Amino acid sequence: MNTVLVGLQWGDEGKGKVIDYLCRDSDVIVRFQGGNNAGHTVVIDGKKFVFHLVPSGVLRKGKVCAIGNGVVVDPKVLIEEMESLKKQGVSISARNLKISPFCHIIMPYHKIMDALREKRRMQKIGTTKRGIGPCYVDKVSRCGIRMVDFINEEAFALKLKDNLAEKNPLLEKVYGEKGFSFDSIYSEYRKYAQALKPYICDLTDHFYPLKSKRFLFEGAQGTFLDIDFGTYPFVTSSSVVAGNALLGSGLSFVPVKRILGVAKAYTTRVGEGPFPTELKGDMLNYFQSKGSEFGATTGRPRRCGWLDLVLLKRAVISSNITHLVITKLDILDGLEEIKVCTAYKYRNKTCKQFPTDLSCVEPVYREFKGWSDSCNMARSFKNLPLEARRYINFIEEFLSVKVLFISVGEKREAIFKK
Ligand code: GDP
Ligand code: IMO
Ligand code: MG
Repeated sequence: MNTVLVGLQWGDEGKGKVIDYLCRDSDVIVRFQGGNNAGHTVVIDGKKFVFHLVPSGVLRKGKVCAIGNGVVVDPKVLIEEMESLKKQGVSISARNLKISPFCHIIMPYHKIMDALREKRRMQKIGTTKRGIGPCYVDKVSRCGIRMVDFINEEAFALKLKDNLAEKNPLLEKVYGEKGFSFDSIYSEYRKYAQALKPYICDLTDHFYPLKSKRFLFEGAQGTFLDIDFGTYPFVTSSSVVAGNALLGSGLSFVPVKRILGVAKAYTTRVGEGPFPTELKGDMLNYFQSKGSEFGATTGRPRRCGWLDLVLLKRAVISSNITHLVITKLDILDGLEEIKVCTAYKYRNKTCKQFPTDLSCVEPVYREFKGWSDSCNMARSFKNLPLEARRYINFIEEFLSVKVLFISVGEKREAIFKK
């Protein structure tokens, strides 16, 4: 079965772990948006693998992984990631990793522009400073450098010159920074281009004859970081919702029936922007330390809060989610009381409707009795503590979507079908 998997909150829902599990029943795993702002963690036999650009499907033998046209690629980071995975014993070759020629390349000026813009902005976003936003800007303004241009000596030289003619005066005159020299970027990046050349493959052409294979589309970020449907401007610069999976991969001929939405049993967010159920003080410390809520990409502490079902309901609709995956249920073990947001208060009125501006709402909570037993060792729904089962059933009923999988620990095996 073909599957799209997306995050339903603000990212870091545990997508990497769930993808690794779903890979068992997939042949081709495709990233379709974002870049190395993503950090997907998979833990196998105590060994930790963190993915930024490479789909986590490379961990399983015989699978083909692809980086779709909707992804922005920092070639230096991609090469380093491939090297470090190889050192960890993962086999990566042009046979199991394919990169679309239409991916846009993150250049050094994108990274510095990302940091400089962020510094200058009165309303900070808290970006990962990986150059994601500026690279997508260039894509849309049609001065970007695609993988196909990058691996062609002449096209790359021409496009790099053209870009520096625009970016250097901007860096020097507007930001008071030093511009880039053509020669130094060109010689360094030509090496990256040569290293990546064997992996370049037109995904549309390559996979069309293989369309009966089982495809798994690996989303990055989360619904409320979506450029259109997220908490703009505190969002990333790509379309995160499931509707972008086929567009961002060039695989429109793949019929998708199953759309999985991954949500943590509570909520986290990295960076700035509204967060109605955000916690401070002891409860924040609890989630950050018990849930190890520190970013896989930047190491920043994640903001934490209770589960927000109003938000999830909207995310379910935005991606037409057919099944839910709930992760990190074990982090709630031992809490006497668990809160869940079921409505918002806006100007003293209770509303269940999703508002266009999340910054002026207050959460209305429903309280649940917690559980003292551990969920961590459970490998079936019936083995979960009664209160944990009630919690999951409530989520299912509220969202009118079935929970398909429940994850109860970071280990590969700590996940089961409901
Ligand atoms: P992603 O960006 O959505 O792939 O999520 P991240 O990998 O950035 O963050 C999720 C973190 O939670 C990772 O460190 C995972 O190893 C860990 N994790 C995933 N599922 C579970 C779970 O059910 N329980 C616990 N305790 N940790 C989990
Ligand atoms: P995964 O795939 C959590 C956040 C950043 C910032 C905003 C914009 O691991 O879930 P950007 O660098 O994209 O311009 O930053 O988006 N952000 C993420 N937060 N998980 C992610 O990815 C994220 N990718 C971007 O923290 O608030
Ligand atoms: Mg992450």
